[in-house]
Amino acid sequence: LLLLFSWCAHLLRSCSCSSEIHRSQFPPPSDFLFGTSTSAYQIEGAYLEGKKGQSNWDVYTHEQGKIKDGSNGDIADDHYHRYMEDIELMHSLGVNSYRFSIAWTRILPRGRFGDVNPDGVAFYNAIIDALVQKGIQPFVTICHYDIPQELEERYGAWLSPEIQKDFSYFAEVCFKMFGDRVKFWITMNEPNLLARFAYMAGRYPPGRCSYPFGKCAFGNSSTEPYIAGHNMILSHANAVSIYRKKYQEKQGGYIGIALYTRWYEPLRNTTIDLLAVERAISFNVPWFLDPIILGDYPPEMRTILGSNLPQFTLKQRNKLRATKLDFIGLNHYSTWYVKDCIYSPCEVDPVDGDARVVSLAERDGVLIGKKTGVSFIYDVPHGMEEVVMYYKKRYNNTATYITENGRIDYISGYLKFLASAIRKGVDVRGYFVWSLLDNFEWTSGYTARFGLYHVDFKTQKRIPKLSAEWYRKFLKGSSLTR
Ligand code: NOJ
Repeated sequence: LLLLFSWCAHLLRSCSCSSEIHRSQFPPPSDFLFGTSTSAYQIEGAYLEGKKGQSNWDVYTHEQGKIKDGSNGDIADDHYHRYMEDIELMHSLGVNSYRFSIAWTRILPRGRFGDVNPDGVAFYNAIIDALVQKGIQPFVTICHYDIPQELEERYGAWLSPEIQKDFSYFAEVCFKMFGDRVKFWITMNEPNLLARFAYMAGRYPPGRCSYPFGKCAFGNSSTEPYIAGHNMILSHANAVSIYRKKYQEKQGGYIGIALYTRWYEPLRNTTIDLLAVERAISFNVPWFLDPIILGDYPPEMRTILGSNLPQFTLKQRNKLRATKLDFIGLNHYSTWYVKDCIYSPCEVDPVDGDARVVSLAERDGVLIGKKTGVSFIYDVPHGMEEVVMYYKKRYNNTATYITENGRIDYISGYLKFLASAIRKGVDVRGYFVWSLLDNFEWTSGYTARFGLYHVDFKTQKRIPKLSAEWYRKFLKGSSLTR
């Protein structure tokens, strides 16, 4: 009966009943950030300028066949030369924050094996100063996927504990150089996706593939994704601990991490699928946040992966618990159905905890998500509320920022459900649209356009889309139904 009840409740929630959305449904600007989000490799271009070092993405995209349209980020949005124009665009939208990342290779072209590059520091100083001058709060990601290629070549990057030293060193340079004006730090962007894509699915550099039968898909035949994840967690903890000890009090800022956050619904109304949902959730965000906040990996992961999942020493566990997190960043776009694979035959995807994640369109009868222009994104607004409510409970209402979400078709829907969660007491403090500009979408190249502004990549002209106008009106305080 209980299952039936929760199933009906789910169907009711899925109907997106149209009502107005208004800026006043969120806390005032002094307590809530509304922004846009980008990352260095996806927008900057100028890959050989300013004494920048080679990044792993520079190398990877120049290899044949890695990127869908054969493109790369050599020029991208040419933001390196046009940042003032882009900051002006943000100002005209009326945002009070901007999330962007720092290219490791501009600051430390050779990681800790070389000097700090003054040109790189000057570039980010100029951006930060211009933002502050316009009243836009810089919200800075220290590492958004791109790392110095030298670290890959010297010791295998995230697969080696050596990376912990490099990451802390880089983070400390950032705190030292920019922390007087940057009050929000994200150590890493989506390490939970990066570990899978780089060391399991063969999609991001170094393109490691751990599927046993040559077909590069998800699989748990290798420990690599979990070793990489382990080093990411410990690198994050080191950076946070340095910030706490040496900078936070003086500079008065906050530090968190941003995770790739899916929501999951059971494919069928059965106990086994509901349990599969629990397992799929554990392999998504809790893989990282359980150790970071609670001190160890989720029990579901340990049960399924056994010794493929590294162990934290007692010292590391204590360090993790002691460093704490000021806020959680959730990059949320989509909800997926989940089907059990332990008790029923299906294509096994052990990465999601022996649960098969299927697209929303595949379920007979009820379709809870509309397809969007981007193949891997489904429009399921109520997932936004579910996600923040779930993590409120799991992590004791830790302050939360929605560090990515986007596209006009669903910004309004997702915001409605976010406002509803805030009314129910979730401590959400900000929302960032991905992205300000159309940009280099990793392995999809320039074929997936997420920007509020359309970019004509031949002329670099920025043209506002309907979503930009929508966001501008919303931030000005107009009542909007869509
Ligand atoms: C995830 C990543 O953080 C960002 O780099 C990417 O472009 C968007 N979300 C869209 O896939």
